[in-house]
Amino acid sequence: MKKNDVILIAGGHGVAGSAIQRLLLSKGYSNVLSPTHNELDLSSQEEVEALFRAHKPKYVLYTAAKMGSITYRNSHPAELLLENLLMQTNVIRCAHKFNVEKLLFMSSDFIYPEIQDRPMTEADFLSGLPSSRDFPYSLAKITGVKLCDYYREEYGDQFFTVVPCAFFGIDSSFDLERANVVASMIHRMHDAKTTNAKEFVLWGTGKPVKEFLFSDDVASACVLLMEQRSVEGLYNIGSGSGGTSIRELANTIKEVIDYRGQIVCDISKPDGIMRRVTDSSRIRALGWRPKYDLRTAIQVTYNQFQKYIQKI
Ligand SMILES: NC(=O)c1ccc[n+]([C@@H]2O[C@H](COP(=O)([O-])OP(=O)(O)OC[C@H]3O[C@@H](n4cnc5c(N)ncnc54)[C@H](OP(=O)(O)O)[C@@H]3O)[C@@H](O)[C@H]2O)c1
Repeated sequence: MKKNDVILIAGGHGVAGSAIQRLLLSKGYSNVLSPTHNELDLSSQEEVEALFRAHKPKYVLYTAAKMGSITYRNSHPAELLLENLLMQTNVIRCAHKFNVEKLLFMSSDFIYPEIQDRPMTEADFLSGLPSSRDFPYSLAKITGVKLCDYYREEYGDQFFTVVPCAFFGIDSSFDLERANVVASMIHRMHDAKTTNAKEFVLWGTGKPVKEFLFSDDVASACVLLMEQRSVEGLYNIGSGSGGTSIRELANTIKEVIDYRGQIVCDISKPDGIMRRVTDSSRIRALGWRPKYDLRTAIQVTYNQFQKYIQKI
């Protein structure tokens, strides 16, 4: 990528997209396009095509997604599948039509089947069905991966996929309806601290293990891949720490926030998948390593949360 090439981040105002934009700008890329949702509705074929026609991006990173709250996801499977399919298909199709040099499609580890006894590798893709939880979202992401593969197979397009684990960062939503596990736990534990609650309740046993990354580390992996001469297929982006249990996550947040109450587990609530860990050897072989340990990442995110809470 040359420093003045036009680079489009579709979904560039989300957690990953903003981190990628900051990194690209700090590295001297001067032509980064990052329209907001209001400026460009990715589910509109006309709008996406008009943007590609007007700006002719040479490189594209797709980091958008429609997720919503759990209630929304459970009650709107058709909309969720359709919206994600429309957005990603519009962008991938235009990237081909307008001769984009390289496209990164941000998928999710939800594309993999449930493998709990070992880290999931890229070869596990489509070796089984993903969990029925959030199936419409997984299905859209699976389709995006295959569409990129097929464009490469049929036309030689350099379209590839990254598969990040759960991540969070300074642009995370702390709105409890939308927040992911880390942002939501930061918000709820901060509330427990300010109300002097004696207990903070974790759903389930606290034993499920997941990987967590800071958004800037996900961004550095994406930019590293965009700067490679040749990329193809899938690249897992995981912490490489072997995972963190929900209990450990809660303890780390407790330390950062300095919450003095007790963390208790409500074992009447379900645990969900007990272990979701990926093998990131493929991207590590290219030299990528996460820079942020979990505690530092939580500290930076908590600092941001404090600014957020002052504003509302
Ligand atoms: N966060 C994670 O833990 C995680 C883990 C694995 C994979 N992923 C994937 O990684 C990518 C980035 O995740 P993220 O957490 O950064 O997501 P995010 O913060 O929710 O950002 C997604 C962005 O997409 C935008 N968007 C949604 N619908 C749109 C539309 N119709 N037109 C234009 N923009 C639209 C959103 O705008 P509005 O907010 O205005 O709607 C938002 O800025 C996503 O593809 C996600 O599926 C995320």
